[in-house]
Amino acid sequence: MHPSPDLATVRQWLAGARQVAVLTGAGMSAESGVPTFRDALTGWWSRFKPEELATEAAYRAQPQMVWDWYLHRRELVSAALPNAGHRALAAVQQREPPRWTLVTQNVDDLHQRAGSPGVIALHGQLAQDRWLDAERACCAQGLDATTLPPACRHCGNLRRPAVVWFGESLPAQALALAEQAVQTCDVLLVVGTSGVVYPAAGLVFTAHQHGAQVVLVNPEPSELDTVADACLRQTAALCLPTLLEP
Ligand code: OAD
Repeated sequence: MHPSPDLATVRQWLAGARQVAVLTGAGMSAESGVPTFRDALTGWWSRFKPEELATEAAYRAQPQMVWDWYLHRRELVSAALPNAGHRALAAVQQREPPRWTLVTQNVDDLHQRAGSPGVIALHGQLAQDRWLDAERACCAQGLDATTLPPACRHCGNLRRPAVVWFGESLPAQALALAEQAVQTCDVLLVVGTSGVVYPAAGLVFTAHQHGAQVVLVNPEPSELDTVADACLRQTAALCLPTLLEP
């Protein structure tokens, strides 16, 4: 790639854009102390691959183990705080709400806790549960939260984390809103994503095809560099406060 336009140039693009979409990934939360998805399996969990834990088949085979892993992730996330990057994004959204749309692949709630309005959560929310099998009549009255995982005491239906697992579809409404945002934006700001997981990564290519300027904030090269109009090789918490300051 030719030398990337610098931060001052990207600030001008943002200032001139009618619509800005933002797509964030795990790198956004790295400086809050939440390990990126591919770094998450540390310590005891490092013997597994994410693809082996984050699937419906894994949960049905070993519900307690997978539930424990999510419990570990939930504890980690609830102890974390939004970083300066989350706060800078929330501030610019609050200043100019109609111009900004924030789409995230992260299942933590750090954007929401920083004050970002209307976050489109493509991969669900770690803090929420739902029934593993569609809710049956007995389940509404039957939740036994004393077992882990919690289950319906009548039929045994399990609660599961309300996140998207490998092999599952994304929530249709969230995906439709995200598609619309990337098709209509003038600038797409992509922060902290490796661009290897689809369909989320495809949103970046869609924005490029529709003529948006694509800006990456990532200290490392990624799969998305080929369609980037600018690569800001900095971390989210360092780059975004300067990039987005009034
Ligand atoms: P990855 O873990 O694949 O990639 C994280 C990216 O963040 C890498 O490109 C890093 O270089 C970059 N990065 C690391 N620290 C950073 C920092 N401080 N500031 C900015 N960038 C930084 O995470 P995702 O791309 O989000 O899906 O992965 C996508 C999806 O893969 C996840 O949402 C998850 C997983 O499968 C589901 O859970 C469905």
